[in-house]
Amino acid sequence: MDARPWWQDCVIYQVYPRSFQDSNGDGIGDLRGVIARADYFAWLGIDAVWFSPFFTSPQADFGYDISDYIDIDPCFGDLDAFDDLVAALHARHIRVILDFVPNHSSNRHPWFLESRSSRRNSKRDWYIWRDPSAGGAPPNNWLSLAGGISWEYDTTTRQFYCHSFLKEQPDLNWRNPAVREAMHDVLRFWLDRGADGFRIDAIGCLGKDAQFRDDPLNPDYKPGDAPFMQHRLVYSANGPQVMDFVAEMRAVVDAHSGEHVLIGETYLKPKELAVYYGTNLNGLQLPTNFNLLWTPWKPGAITETVAAYEAALPRGAWPDWVLGNHDQSRIASRLGQAQARIAMMLLLTLRGTPTIYYGDELGLKDVTIAPDQLRDPFGVNMPGIGQGRDPERCPMPWDETPKGGFTTGDPWLPIGRNGPGSSVEAQRRDKKSVLSLTHQLLALRRREPALSRGTWSTVAIEGDALAYRRALGERRFTILLNLDDEPKPISLPDPPGALVLSTHGDRRTIRQRLELAPNEGLIVEA
Ligand code: GLC
Repeated sequence: MDARPWWQDCVIYQVYPRSFQDSNGDGIGDLRGVIARADYFAWLGIDAVWFSPFFTSPQADFGYDISDYIDIDPCFGDLDAFDDLVAALHARHIRVILDFVPNHSSNRHPWFLESRSSRRNSKRDWYIWRDPSAGGAPPNNWLSLAGGISWEYDTTTRQFYCHSFLKEQPDLNWRNPAVREAMHDVLRFWLDRGADGFRIDAIGCLGKDAQFRDDPLNPDYKPGDAPFMQHRLVYSANGPQVMDFVAEMRAVVDAHSGEHVLIGETYLKPKELAVYYGTNLNGLQLPTNFNLLWTPWKPGAITETVAAYEAALPRGAWPDWVLGNHDQSRIASRLGQAQARIAMMLLLTLRGTPTIYYGDELGLKDVTIAPDQLRDPFGVNMPGIGQGRDPERCPMPWDETPKGGFTTGDPWLPIGRNGPGSSVEAQRRDKKSVLSLTHQLLALRRREPALSRGTWSTVAIEGDALAYRRALGERRFTILLNLDDEPKPISLPDPPGALVLSTHGDRRTIRQRLELAPNEGLIVEA
């Protein structure tokens, strides 16, 4: 019997619930909408869905500001709909991963309302309150990741509270054991209701310096970067204590029956990322590996990233790969639509657990948002430097009708469409579409464990052409990727075997020395 945990032989698909499928015509996606699309997940061939938050929230940060951790926001449904969602996905052998937002609640959470009511309130210490510095200035120089500073002055109790994101998202005080226990109960609540794991939001923010020292300046900051990048987040985040908090969360999920996964939002270079696996792997099973996002799209750079990451992994740790999410410009906009196919082939032929961001399987691009359509507070707070996240959060185009089959009402953001023929319906009919390619890649990955588990090695680099090998026992594959839109020759060290899959779907022959077509990717037996 194979004792591998499910989250290793797994492809995760991220759903941004507001934008997946609306069922009640209010223009906002909801849980019943997702249920109606459950067959799509099964057809596509993914194994788990991670849902961005759908808990009770004033929606100041579209669900990342939670005012009740153990209920569903009415705009998304209710607990019955949640139970039906879990049942619908589990019936299709698809796991359910929830977004857990431990660092901050909504400023309208009853805990915060109590905390801010008086310095003597029993929940005062559930949040991070500090006296002003001399002259009434904020307690230190920490900057909010959502723009501005991390401190908001409260006139009633004459102290500042800390918020790593919006002022509507006050940071919980994780040094307080009562906070930790309450948040562990949140994990238990959802585990009892069938959750298979959690993606932990902004995990590094739990590791704040106990002395609240100033962050040092970042010498690499350039005008146009997000304002918080003026500092190196040395004291405001990722301090050593975070690993104690992670180990405790891990113990909570491990104590529950069944096998559960903890994923973390960790924007870190390989060596710092490796720390999040914990001592003897008692931390996160999958600290999210964002390193491909900031790797130049060149064979040497990609190879270096893969090698550096693999080398940094602790013994027994399992790799993780992503190309995008609800906070990042879409891959098809960053690289162009033709290269987005190559990126998908790369993502699905790397060792480890990949996550596909909804719509990337369609090659969707960012949508241009008119000023009056702007929704994301990051875009409002940090105008003109591309920090708004609406462009990558647009509703899924299911069919070719004007509202894309997403809603019967007015969609909360414009439908995410590249043009005619980009919908799910059209692409499912087109055997050469990105969607068909993704579908085939997922089927191949499921059939051939060499692609998820096998060893990885570079075979050849010639100009913009990259070839690497994945091998598990007798099963060996060579993946050839042309990272450019010009034809590129490449030679393989050994005569290639049969062609298994190609991005263009029109290649018939494969030789030891061959010319890759512009933006072509191939998988061949080695
Ligand atoms: C994470 C989320 C992001 C959110 C922030 C605050 O970075 O991915 O969408 O705004 O945390 O919760």
